[in-house]
Amino acid sequence: MTVVPAPLDNASCDTAVRADFLHFTGDPDVAGDSYEYVEDGLLILRQGRVQMLVAAAEWIDFLPDGSALYDYRGRLVMPGFVDTHTHYPQTEMIASHGHQLLDWLEQYTFPAEARFADRAHADRVAALFCREMLRQGTTTSAVFATVHPASVDAIFAEAERLDLCLVAGKVMMDRNAPEYLLDTAESSYAQSVELVERWHLKGRNYYAVTPRFAPCCSDAQLEVCGRLLGEHPDLYLQSHVAENLDEVRWVAELFPDRRSYLDVYDHYGLLGPRSVYAHCIHLDAEDRERMARSGAAIAFCPTSNLFLGSGLFDLDAARDEDIRVGLATDVGAGTSFSQLQTLNEAYKVCALGGHGLTPQKAFYLATLGGARSLYLDHRIGNFAVGKEADFVVLDLAPTELMQARMAQATTLEERLFALMMLGDDRCIQATHVMGRRRHTRDRLE
Ligand code: GUN
Ligand code: ZN
Repeated sequence: MTVVPAPLDNASCDTAVRADFLHFTGDPDVAGDSYEYVEDGLLILRQGRVQMLVAAAEWIDFLPDGSALYDYRGRLVMPGFVDTHTHYPQTEMIASHGHQLLDWLEQYTFPAEARFADRAHADRVAALFCREMLRQGTTTSAVFATVHPASVDAIFAEAERLDLCLVAGKVMMDRNAPEYLLDTAESSYAQSVELVERWHLKGRNYYAVTPRFAPCCSDAQLEVCGRLLGEHPDLYLQSHVAENLDEVRWVAELFPDRRSYLDVYDHYGLLGPRSVYAHCIHLDAEDRERMARSGAAIAFCPTSNLFLGSGLFDLDAARDEDIRVGLATDVGAGTSFSQLQTLNEAYKVCALGGHGLTPQKAFYLATLGGARSLYLDHRIGNFAVGKEADFVVLDLAPTELMQARMAQATTLEERLFALMMLGDDRCIQATHVMGRRRHTRDRLE
């Protein structure tokens, strides 16, 4: 329905944003007409939520006195990017050289995570992580903390301070790791319950039961995860599955009675809506069917999967089974906080698998697709009326090369493709959270 332009009052508008707008209304693989592009549009906000998206020329004179206007004419505004899987404690060990998953965990990851027993260290890294999220246009993340409850307090507190939308949890791991990082089934249960009470649904925070991965969790601990979900059915569940072939073989030895790696989690009731599994590279047809039926989501982590030599995720197979898929950085195995750079690598992973990745599908994955994977699409992911106004302001030509390339592009699709292949933090002019500007290219606000 088209709204006829008319004067707005303060009850319907306290903030307006002028720019070109692109957002998705559906999955481009499913619905033909899946996006809306508004050249020189005006996004009308009230109390951090979308009121409407209209043509600026028709509405600009009707803004009420006292409303704020962000003038981003010539820039492209998209919904804030959604990172469906990452590890904030691995921020400072990103780009550690030379191993595949299991050795990488032992050599770099576990020692780095040990330091999060110290709350001051956790606070410092949590602040750095959130700054970097904002610098890259990411406004929602699903995050692993460490085994230490204080590491969860640190990231939720910082997200709350910045109004970021965050899914996070205490890592649960009671075996096959250094003693200094282990909890027990009982202690992880008690600590998780306490953290749920402290943080779940506080502001924009959501708690995720977070078993690290099956090799680090005893049967008793996986049982506890299922119990937590049974007692608190609105919680999230996040973990890793079928990332690396040595890992898959190890899980088969540890859980000889289970049909597959995914079946281990399924057995303990850990597959369902709001379950998010990173990687899912080495799944078979039955696993995929099970993922789809359960409503669980896959976090596609292309930079991480290439960096650790884990393998090529099959996006087309996931689409054929109608599984929810979101994009993920998986820092610190992932090599960039940038969702643009993550899309660049995603495109190459798909190309190596003999498939394409259209720019429409790519930016869908980074926005609405991620929101759907986290079952947050009633709140974020596009500019539908009532949604929380998280958005990123993109400069498509911050360098001479990108200017030259964009000058050759004749369609929106071409410009989006050049953006995802060449773009990075230089393209992020500003990031807004609940309407409010939290980052501009050269400084935090
Ligand atoms: N599997 C278990 N823990 C981890 C982790 O920290 N990173 C990755 N990429 N895979 C994992
Ligand atoms: Zn991970």
